[in-house]
Amino acid sequence: MRSSPFHRVGIAADHGGYELKEYLLSELLREASAEVIDFGNSQFVADDDYPDFITPLATAVASGEVVRGIAICGSGVGASVCANKIAGVRSALINDSFSAHQGVEDDDMNIICLGGRVVGHALAWEWVQAFLQAQFSGQARHRRRLEKVAQLENRWSPTRTFPHPKPEESPRKPEPVRAVALERWENEGGEIPGQPHLPHPAERHLRSPNDGNSITPNPPRNADVPVGPPLQRLPGSGG
Ligand code: RB5
Repeated sequence: MRSSPFHRVGIAADHGGYELKEYLLSELLREASAEVIDFGNSQFVADDDYPDFITPLATAVASGEVVRGIAICGSGVGASVCANKIAGVRSALINDSFSAHQGVEDDDMNIICLGGRVVGHALAWEWVQAFLQAQFSGQARHRRRLEKVAQLENRWSPTRTFPHPKPEESPRKPEPVRAVALERWENEGGEIPGQPHLPHPAERHLRSPNDGNSITPNPPRNADVPVGPPLQRLPGSGG
């Protein structure tokens, strides 16, 4: 006999999905056969972070501790991005009933992601039931595709790290010592104890009085000040 579709389900949400999680949890617990693990957050915390709850859930699904997972954030996007980082997880943001079951039947989806700020409670519960009741078809073509997906996990192993954004796309950050020193110099003037010798006053041109946006590309060098990339505009300098 096939085990209950509501057996060993995990659920997790950040503040954006907390309310929907509580609703779904109460619905799941009404099912006599339900065994649900709540991975948090256990209370509404306005600035909590979805990876702190979605990651334990996703890890539990990948390890088999729970069979299926329900991951919720405000939009469902962050939850989906996060869950799919865990090898063995196949999660997707679901916004329709067809995908809720077809994602399992064809793609063996094991975590459904929902947007707590996007979908109504009753509709989300219908999708969750469709997700939990669906079974992977096991058809050869779907196995073949999933095997190719699994190969990606092996090839791009978790031990490898990929910078995001790519280095060449990274915004250049202000060189902290110089930026802080210049700001303090502008606010307080003169030498500041404990700080490197302050930049030449010409560096004030970094905040152009003309357009507020100009950045002097090569400010005069001062031997005592470590030289990094050109300073970026400071807060309050317009733009
Ligand atoms: C949090 O405000 C929100 O960004 C998060 O819940 C989720 O929507 C992310 O995708």
